[in-house]
Order: sequence, then structure tokens, then C-alpha cells
Amino acid sequence: MANTNQESNELQRAPSQHVGPDYKTSDEKPEATVSTTIEQKNVVILPQTPQLIALLTMIRDKNTSRADFIFYSNRINRLLVEEALNHLPVHPHTITTPVGRTYAGVKFEGKICGVSIMRAGEAMEQALRECCRSVRIGKILIQRDEETSKPRLFYDKLPEDVKDRWVLLLDPMLATGGSALMAVDVLRSKGVPEERILFLNLIASPEGAANFSKKYPKLRIVTAFVDQGLDEKNYIVPGLGDFGDRFYTL
Ligand code: PRP
Ligand code: URA
Repeated sequence: MANTNQESNELQRAPSQHVGPDYKTSDEKPEATVSTTIEQKNVVILPQTPQLIALLTMIRDKNTSRADFIFYSNRINRLLVEEALNHLPVHPHTITTPVGRTYAGVKFEGKICGVSIMRAGEAMEQALRECCRSVRIGKILIQRDEETSKPRLFYDKLPEDVKDRWVLLLDPMLATGGSALMAVDVLRSKGVPEERILFLNLIASPEGAANFSKKYPKLRIVTAFVDQGLDEKNYIVPGLGDFGDRFYTL
């Protein structure tokens, strides 16, 4: 019996790993906790580079100021958007360079839009705008009840042709998954196919990722990190606290 408990504690512990450039031996590299690996194939976890781990360390730190929290979370959001854009379809596109040679390249296919889950998701809009100039952005206001952790939908306003677009759904925290699943239900009710939704988030819990993949196995999640789990209040642990409060009001 004691052995079983010990084994499950081992499983719950997030893995640690040496991070850093290849020219250092593992003795010389610092050890850091990296993302938990999960079995869901539709979840893309950003490469656990020293840069990403350093950025995450900044925003997880409870002593980080609001100004730094905004700056460093924006940097991670930019990495998430860049990765998500790799998952959009392209078609062949050959151009001519100024020296008269042709280059066989590619061009993005189809239209995109962002949809942010208010309030915290709006914090990811800047990174999307930096990569996709004048991108249309819809809004869905969903708030998680502080007592029950259940989401409540208050409002949505989406581009009229949202069903014809690829949707980059934005929310930094995937805890139980209730809020984001409700947002996907709204998108599905407007005719957006599941496989044309990419959900971008900063930190996911294994439970949230599993709930999501069960209901929407064709939807892709792009996340920077899968954390250890949820606490008794359904906050992500070790997490970073309340993202919206830290970005907007603390
Ligand atoms: C947070 C977060 C997600 C949700 C995650 O928002 O931004 O939307 O909780 O939790 P879940 O996966 O268990 O649903 P919150 O409702 O606290 O509102 P906020 O964006 O105004 O901070
Ligand atoms: N919302 C947050 O902002 N943080 C959590 O850990 C869970 C929900």
C-alpha cells in the first residue's frame, strides 16, 4: 500500500531537467522544472528552451511587478502566436526576387481571426496583432464562479463570417477547461468547425487538457507549459495565480 502511494506521488511530481545550450555538460547546466508530458496528441507544447523557462520563471514569481508581468507574459504570448501560425495551411507560391531569380515558397491559405475570452484572454491580443496586422478579433465574456469554478457566459460578439475563418482562441489559463469549452461551444454554435480552432494558452493543467481532448479531439491546443495539476480551489499549481488580476489590477 505504502508503495502505491509513493508511486502516485512520483507520478504527480512535475519532471525536472537540465536546461541550457548543448556546449555545456549536464553538470554545468541549471536544473529546472519543465512541462509535464501528456498523452493527448492534439496538445502542442512549446519547446522547453532556457529562454521560455526563464520567461515563465518571471511570470510565475509572486514578487514580479505588474509591469514586468505584462512585459514577460507578452513575450511568451508572442511565442505562442508564432507557433500557432505554423499550424495554419499554406499553398505553394513562387515569387521572383530583385535579382531576377525565382523562389518556390508558400503563402498562407484562408482567413483567420482571433477570439479572446474576456478578461484575461484580451491580454494575448497584442501578440496576435503584432504578427497579423489588422486581424479581426471577436470577444466572448465568460467568468468562472469563484465558489463553484463553473463558467458563466455573459456576452459574445464575433466576426459575421467567423464560420469561414480559422479561429485563434485566446485565454492564458486552462484550469478545469470549463471556460474554454464553453467558448468553443459558442464558436461551434456559429458554425466554426472544431478542426479550424486553435486554442492558445500559457499554462494548462493536465485535467483541463484531458477534458478538452475528450470533448474536442480535433481541436489543437498550443500551450507553453502543462503544469502539475489543480488545487482545492481549482487554481493551477504551481501556476502563477490569477492571471487577470496580475495583468490588469494588482
Ligand atoms: C480565468 C482564466 C480562464 C479561466 C480558467 O478567468 O482566464 O478563463 O479562469 O479556468 P477554467 O479552465 O477552470 O474555466 P476568470 O473567469 O477568473 O476571469 P478573468 O479573465 O476576468 O480573470
Ligand atoms: N484562472 C487563473 O487566472 N488562474 C488559475 O490558476 C486558474 C484560473
